[in-house]
Amino acid sequence: MGTLDGKAVIVTGGAGGIGSGSSQLLAREGAAVVVADIPAMAPRALAEELAASGHRAIGVEVDITDEGQVEAMAKAAVAAFGRIDGLHANAAATRLVATDGLLTELPRSDFEDAFQVNVIGTWLCCKHVIPVMVEQGGGSIVATSSGAATHGDIRNTAYGVTKAGVNQLMRTVATQFGRQGVRANTVMPGLIIHRGTEFLPEQFKQVILDNVLTPELGGPEAIASFVAYLFSDAARYVQGQSIHVDGGMHVHVPQLASILAQQTPLF
Ligand SMILES: NC(=O)c1ccc[n+]([C@@H]2O[C@H](COP(=O)([O-])OP(=O)(O)OC[C@H]3O[C@@H](n4cnc5c(N)ncnc54)[C@H](O)[C@@H]3O)[C@@H](O)[C@H]2O)c1
Repeated sequence: MGTLDGKAVIVTGGAGGIGSGSSQLLAREGAAVVVADIPAMAPRALAEELAASGHRAIGVEVDITDEGQVEAMAKAAVAAFGRIDGLHANAAATRLVATDGLLTELPRSDFEDAFQVNVIGTWLCCKHVIPVMVEQGGGSIVATSSGAATHGDIRNTAYGVTKAGVNQLMRTVATQFGRQGVRANTVMPGLIIHRGTEFLPEQFKQVILDNVLTPELGGPEAIASFVAYLFSDAARYVQGQSIHVDGGMHVHVPQLASILAQQTPLF
């Protein structure tokens, strides 16, 4: 018995680092999964792997900035599984993060591209999934935002601003559709190590490790298991929240963590 038996869910960016972990864990919890991603990420291949392991899954190629494709994604989910109980709105223009610098130097086109995917794309997914959820009596949407949504950053200008927009979008969904049974929450990961981030310089990973309040950095399952909880009936009273899943990185004064990491006496 899984916690999501009988439910059908869509994971956007479902073949990426965090998204593939989510697709896999949600399937193990009993959900029928729509792995939705751009063609280059081969979402159908991951869906076929899941199906070969005995899970119910389909892959859908989608660019979430294209409204027609998003509408087709929602229709494909209903055609395959008859309903949509969960949307993990997880896709983002992560390729832009590497060059997302000072706001005085950022090219306008980079900001617009980040806005198109992170905000408009996430909104389009909600726009076409919510009517299905309302008609069937409810559902749960979880957007992947980022810790960058709640704190200023020396870089990550477009990323942080658009992720703050994602947090606000989920509050808006909860406010406008909560009484019709749709829950909407945001998970804000800290650094998550997967095949797309493990190449990051050791020095960078060590700084993050020095600042989390857990013995190790998180992997995709840290986010996936939280999404599974938010999709489950156990979370039926969790509504409109933005929750950091970051090993506690945001709850303390970072200067003190740095001092402790250097083993410098405090007094
Ligand atoms: N890995 C981390 O440390 C971290 C930290 C905070 C937040 N996040 C967030 O987690 C989510 C997943 O990121 P990730 O780390 O797995 O990176 P990733 O690059 O592996 O995943 C992003 C996914 O979004 C998909 N995508 C991008 N543009 C799309 C579009 N137009 N249409 C459909 N799909 C599109 C990509 O193909 C990819 O599968 C993102 O929202 C990211 O901002 C990640």
